[in-house]
Amino acid sequence: MKDKFDRNINYLRISVTDRCNLRCIYCMPEEGISKLLPHSEILSYEEILKIVEIGVDLGITNIRITGGEPLLRKGIVSFIERLAKTEGIKDIGMTTNGILLKKFAKALYTAGLKRVNISLDSLDKDKFRTITRVGSIDEVLEGIEEADKVGLKPIKINVVVMRGINDDEIERFAFWSKEVEYQIRFIEFMPIGPNAWKRELFISKDEIKERIEKKVGRLIPVQVKKSGPAEYFMLEGAKGLLGFISPLTTHICVRCNRLRLTAEGKLRPCLFSDKELDLKKLLRSKASREQIRDMILRTIHLKPQGMSDSQPLRPMSTIGG
Ligand code: GTP
Ligand code: 5AD
Ligand code: SF4
Repeated sequence: MKDKFDRNINYLRISVTDRCNLRCIYCMPEEGISKLLPHSEILSYEEILKIVEIGVDLGITNIRITGGEPLLRKGIVSFIERLAKTEGIKDIGMTTNGILLKKFAKALYTAGLKRVNISLDSLDKDKFRTITRVGSIDEVLEGIEEADKVGLKPIKINVVVMRGINDDEIERFAFWSKEVEYQIRFIEFMPIGPNAWKRELFISKDEIKERIEKKVGRLIPVQVKKSGPAEYFMLEGAKGLLGFISPLTTHICVRCNRLRLTAEGKLRPCLFSDKELDLKKLLRSKASREQIRDMILRTIHLKPQGMSDSQPLRPMSTIGG
């Protein structure tokens, strides 16, 4: 389905829970989100599957499961299995913090998950703990290895870069790409939700690239199919790739192909806009398929051409990135 700006909308990001087992400084306050959703306010798997089926009729082929932390939701493996059996769905990925990945990787792969994107903002044990407040890096590294072993590929690593916090590790991540087959992506820190964003913490893609080229080596551009919002490069002779996601300094919106479904059943046309349509209310009022279809179409129609200047208020943990 095309939107008003001729973008083909074929990708639905589904947040299955607002809960998380980490407290990353850029995403959540230390005490956690004060208003966690009660179970009854979260879409059931049946409700999500119904939305997906109708979405498929409108051209949705790719799904990404996000959270909070999606692996915390009970029954996630059998949900993926049902999703994978939905006719018309070609690609299912998941974005996870990796803490529980070692335990789940094999079952997820068998259920039909194709690939995982894993948040990893530091390669240093203590720094990782400072950023996530409670996490243990070894669990994540073991999770990544297991995902790789069972075939959840390509593995994408997400690094949100913050000045004075983890920017001293840009070069270390770049060197890592020589040794591992992963796509390591540096992400510009975005002002979303009531998070810790400050201009002083922001580092642009250009600055990150400059630092890599100065200390590590030349970045050779690489074309990657279905690259989403990322741009890719590689270092000479490297096994892996380096990617850049730069929503604040590059016009990534021109190729935006996505809608977002929050855990409480709101459909969002854009990460950067608090406009939302209440699909859950409609579903629970016993609406017809046509009415649901109509609401999805209206959301597609609401997609803005680009990001607005206002800071979206909804916490990132309830949208899923
Ligand atoms: P694939 O391309 O399917 O692998 O996924 P992805 O890279 O888009 O997803 P992921 O969840 O790993 O997100 C990586 C980063 O990109 C996160 O910081 C997201 O918030 C950001 N991101 C993903 N989609 C968009 C988008 O449409 N707009 C903006 N501004 N940021 C996005
Ligand atoms: N800016 C950029 N990326 C963010 N993420 C979470 N919050 C932000 C932010 N403010 C990333 C996470 C995760 C993905 C879903 O979004 O690190 O990898
Ligand atoms: Fe898409 Fe909105 Fe992100 Fe732009 S800011 S890429 S329109 S979600």
